[in-house]
Amino acid sequence: MKFFIRTFGCQMNVADSFWISSALVSKGFEVTYQEKDADIILVNTCSVRKKPEEKLYSFLGRIYPYFKKNPELIVGVGGCVAQQLGEKIWKKFPFVRLIFGTDGVPYVPQTITKLISTPSLKISLLDFKDFYPERDIVIEEELLNNHPVAYVNIMQGCNNFCAYCIVPYTRGRQKSRHSEKVLEECKRLVDAGVKEIMLLGQNVNSYGKDKYGDGVSFEDLLVKVSKIEGLKRIRFTTSHPKDISDKLIELFGKLDNLCPAIHLPLQAGSNRILKLMGRKYLKEDYLRIIDKLRKVREDIVITTDLIVGFPGEREEDFRETLDMVKRVEFDSSFSFKYSDRPGTRAEKMEPKVPEEVKSKRLKELQNIQDELTLKSMNKLHNQTVEVLVEGRSSKQLKKGVVSFRGREPGGRVVNFLVNKEMVPSVFIGSIVNIKITEVKKHSLFGEVRK
Ligand code: 5AD
Ligand code: SF4
Repeated sequence: MKFFIRTFGCQMNVADSFWISSALVSKGFEVTYQEKDADIILVNTCSVRKKPEEKLYSFLGRIYPYFKKNPELIVGVGGCVAQQLGEKIWKKFPFVRLIFGTDGVPYVPQTITKLISTPSLKISLLDFKDFYPERDIVIEEELLNNHPVAYVNIMQGCNNFCAYCIVPYTRGRQKSRHSEKVLEECKRLVDAGVKEIMLLGQNVNSYGKDKYGDGVSFEDLLVKVSKIEGLKRIRFTTSHPKDISDKLIELFGKLDNLCPAIHLPLQAGSNRILKLMGRKYLKEDYLRIIDKLRKVREDIVITTDLIVGFPGEREEDFRETLDMVKRVEFDSSFSFKYSDRPGTRAEKMEPKVPEEVKSKRLKELQNIQDELTLKSMNKLHNQTVEVLVEGRSSKQLKKGVVSFRGREPGGRVVNFLVNKEMVPSVFIGSIVNIKITEVKKHSLFGEVRK
């Protein structure tokens, strides 16, 4: 039988979907990238912001005709939206047969087998477990072949309850994964050819600091992972400014394979708004962290998340966000209009900022960031950077030339062309020296250096 998985949202969802794919392939299912060919369609959702939720509804609407044509089609909805809406999904979309939350992921493959053998059955896997929901390590070379980069979960959930955020409700409280399990998975991935590992958690800096931890801190874990022979690059996300330690910052100067890149969500630049958000740091603390990071690694790429129009945000608060963006000179940022998420503290906070004000602020912020992003990327112009080749670009190819895509250590995508006769030395998973010859708005172009 063939399965199709659609993923919305963050890297954690991408990682969960990849695990489900590998586990299904190891059970004899076949992956398809076309919904219309599938016997099983899964959608893994995210509800951090509103859009992914809307995307789920339109996705289910779109695949309904396939179910009409083939009533044996198994449709499953997982991830944060599933956790949040729960069995209400069945009311709206009765053809859905499986609903699973984040702690239900390990049971998805066996549940699908059960659904196949019992056609009238519907199953929901929504309970939060009082343990880290460990999964079998399944490494399917067929799926990994074109993936030199792997995501590895080190924890689930979050204990921070930032006022705007739904994550603690949809992903539950923080549960750290056993460090030996993390290491085992990383080692097996590297043995299977993975060159870069991204360690994932909602707040990696507090890894180990919960009752599920085994005494190994995030810093210790990072050192252990970095020692895995053959692992060329490590990244991690997401960090929280209130928990980032000097010890971690110093590792950027010590671990050769730790990439010089950090995603450090600022969210807002005004201390008043940060307090309302419950972020537990001041903008001055944030600036001190940035200074330290740049002292240790001058070239570190710093990215962030920002929210505009949090309830009560005044024009002067927003100006402080702009001021922070200019002071820090983020290499890039993700910025969002605040939206109410059900059950969060901010949902009840007033006054709400009008939609048009949010839009105006977002645009102004993004224009400033665009300039900073370009400035940051221009620093790479004429530089030679090491690029880990991640895939072939989908763009139209010229005859005799292959187009590749990869990332430089800072995490920015680099595109380059290679003559067909050179392709044996440039392949997915190889690291090549690329001279950056052109900087476009959101992408870098270069050519191979020997
Ligand atoms: N509204 C807007 N943006 C949000 N984020 C999280 N919750 C909300 C919300 N209710 C953003 C934050 C977070 C990123 C993953 O999504 O910036 O860091
Ligand atoms: Fe959400 Fe805050 Fe936890 Fe991040 S740290 S997942 S924003 S509650």
